[in-house]
Amino acid sequence: MNYPTVRLSRLRAGDTLRSMVRETSLSVSDLIAPLFIHHADNVKKEISSMPGQFQLSINHAAEYARRLFDMGIKSLLLFGIPAHKDSVGCDTWDDEKGVIQRALRALHRAVPDMLLITDVCFCEYTDHGHCGVMVEREGKMVLDHDATLDNLALQVVSHARAGADMVAPSGMIDGGVGAIRDALDNAGFGHLPIMAYSAKYASSFYGPFREAAEGAPQFGDRRSYQMDIPNSNEALREVELDIAQGADIVMVKPALAYMDVIRRIKDAFGMPTAAYNVSGEYAMVKAAAAAGWLEEKAVVLEILTSLKRAGADLLITYHAADAARWLSL
Ligand code: PBG
Repeated sequence: MNYPTVRLSRLRAGDTLRSMVRETSLSVSDLIAPLFIHHADNVKKEISSMPGQFQLSINHAAEYARRLFDMGIKSLLLFGIPAHKDSVGCDTWDDEKGVIQRALRALHRAVPDMLLITDVCFCEYTDHGHCGVMVEREGKMVLDHDATLDNLALQVVSHARAGADMVAPSGMIDGGVGAIRDALDNAGFGHLPIMAYSAKYASSFYGPFREAAEGAPQFGDRRSYQMDIPNSNEALREVELDIAQGADIVMVKPALAYMDVIRRIKDAFGMPTAAYNVSGEYAMVKAAAAAGWLEEKAVVLEILTSLKRAGADLLITYHAADAARWLSL
């Protein structure tokens, strides 16, 4: 059967028809908002490359979380900007003074039903800005995956004690998910889910984030531990390993240039799959919108809907608050 018997435009003729046959929907419950928590008091500092995003002290973060919750955003991903950095990132397992631990307690008090996910990494907490313990090997400083596992265990158990509802390891450390699962289970947190940054690429789209979280590497880059951009079979292997080690949700990061990877992972594993619409993706949209080159609302909703269509179930996005507002109109 062919034209003119078949005419696909028939079902596009009006809003009602289009919505009847729509294949993908975007809802505020899909959205997770990242938040940058500053250790000091009374900080509200806009991130210049990410207009509309702020480093917030704990008191401001609590207020903002309340507003987000009232808009329908029920889940946050927390990043910390600590008072002190050192070679291993001790702030990440400081039960009392750690920036994330303090934030977890305050946010739970302010917004008890908000689901708090902690980003689990070391790059914002180490003086060298790498995602784990560094050692010298053949005259070069390299990341020691095995030594990092012990510190990951310390970090997640401390987050769990402070009230984390989910942990999200983002460091691409070999064996990381398994070490985290064991540590949580042994400490009585067998119920806490893990959202693994399974297929995280060594991407240049993280540029603005490194200003936001103050976690740029002080030497070298992350290509020896994050994934090589041209690979996608390898992404399936990463995801498979993380699932075997106990990941409950898997993630692809960045999102837009990696939609093929999202689709492959969704098709291969059928796991709850998150896409991280990263800082550089946000910055591009904001810059073009500010210049009057793109219509921000339409473009953002198009991007987020398309990530769902590609196979993502959960969207981590700096557009979360705006999108929640637009979706409710
Ligand atoms: C930390 C981490 C990074 C991002 C999330 N967690 C930075 C990096 O790996 O360099 C990037 C997020 C973004 O760009 O929005 N490991």
